[in-house]
Amino acid sequence: MLNSPLKILIALGTRPEAIKLAPVIQAFRRSPDFTTQVILTGQHREMVEQVMHLFDLQADCDLGIMKHQQTLTDITCGSLQGLEGFLQETTPNLLIVQGDTTTAFAGALAAFYQKIAIGHVEAGLRTDELFNPYPEEANRRLISQLAQLHFAPTTKAVENLERSGVTGEIHLTGNTVIDALLSVASRQPDCPIPGLDWQQYRVLLATVHRRENWGEPLTGIAQGFLKTLDEFPDTALLLPLHKNPTVREPLQAMLGNHPRVFLTEPLDYAELVGAMQRCYLLLTDSGGLQEEAPALGKPVLVLRETTERPEAIDAGTAKLVGTDSLEIFTAASALLKDKDSYQKMATAVNPFGDGHASEKIVEIVRKYLD
Ligand code: UD1
Repeated sequence: MLNSPLKILIALGTRPEAIKLAPVIQAFRRSPDFTTQVILTGQHREMVEQVMHLFDLQADCDLGIMKHQQTLTDITCGSLQGLEGFLQETTPNLLIVQGDTTTAFAGALAAFYQKIAIGHVEAGLRTDELFNPYPEEANRRLISQLAQLHFAPTTKAVENLERSGVTGEIHLTGNTVIDALLSVASRQPDCPIPGLDWQQYRVLLATVHRRENWGEPLTGIAQGFLKTLDEFPDTALLLPLHKNPTVREPLQAMLGNHPRVFLTEPLDYAELVGAMQRCYLLLTDSGGLQEEAPALGKPVLVLRETTERPEAIDAGTAKLVGTDSLEIFTAASALLKDKDSYQKMATAVNPFGDGHASEKIVEIVRKYLD
């Protein structure tokens, strides 16, 4: 045990950051060597509240920056300004950020301005296309240039960091999403959806939210879903809508009237895990779901042109299909028609971690700060 506790500040703003940092916060709070504070930028409101509640976590400060139809500049400026004051007041030994959101980037920049050390969870993901995903590929590259501790989830991420010429220590830890997933899955969560009988249908579980899919790609995705539903009457589509009106409104308009489409509010994380366990197949542009579904033995069709998570594709459990309706229909049909193709993809593999990433991160931080 150290003489006086070290001060850790964890900054987060969106739902995936809350999910992936919840086990990290819990691990730091279990250790007497640290006092751990959590600050929310408020980039997301309801979607973060759900996760904090599920993991029984309270934040020490909420900057409350969320605005309807907020721009990237709004998020960056609001977070930077709010974090500056909080960092000056609390003088943490280390600020931890996660992933590639604008909150994470602004958090790292705010800490850099105060000369506070930065730990980056889920460091080293790359597509090598600056605008894909936008703005996340730039955010994670920029954070990598500022951080002192890089917690890489996979060996590919370690290699990416090495060739990015970053300073600081690179550590292979696994992805904390697996810690979160295993802890929630062990509670055997239910997923009741009004009107949806899980026994009656093969359920296609879909999520869409990415900025590069707004507009025309969203239409391709919706048409791909409709074509698949029409061809396979024993399927139903469960699509929890993101809170962002730019994606939710067109999806509601295009899919809302189909009798086998179930559009819901964002599921809380436990329900989402329950849905992943019960569904037949996932179609998504989310990063987290690409990591979680393979661990649960569910095939994933990735509704994007690129992925920074090639490990699941290499392992054969995920396939990149893009946003063209015919491509989506063809890939989904193959899995719905052909049992062998399905079985090949439905193998439980876990290239992203062993469920102990958070503990490893705490140990690395202890050594670094001691
Ligand atoms: C953000 C992240 C993205 C991440 C995603 C996960 C950036 C630039 N984008 O995208 O990397 O994959 O979160 O969800 O950091 N809204 C609400 N309530 C909420 C959350 C959002 O009403 O709880 C609405 C607001 O109108 C807001 C809009 O959604 O303006 C978009 O939120 P924003 O954080 O700007 O972008 P996301 O698409 O959620």
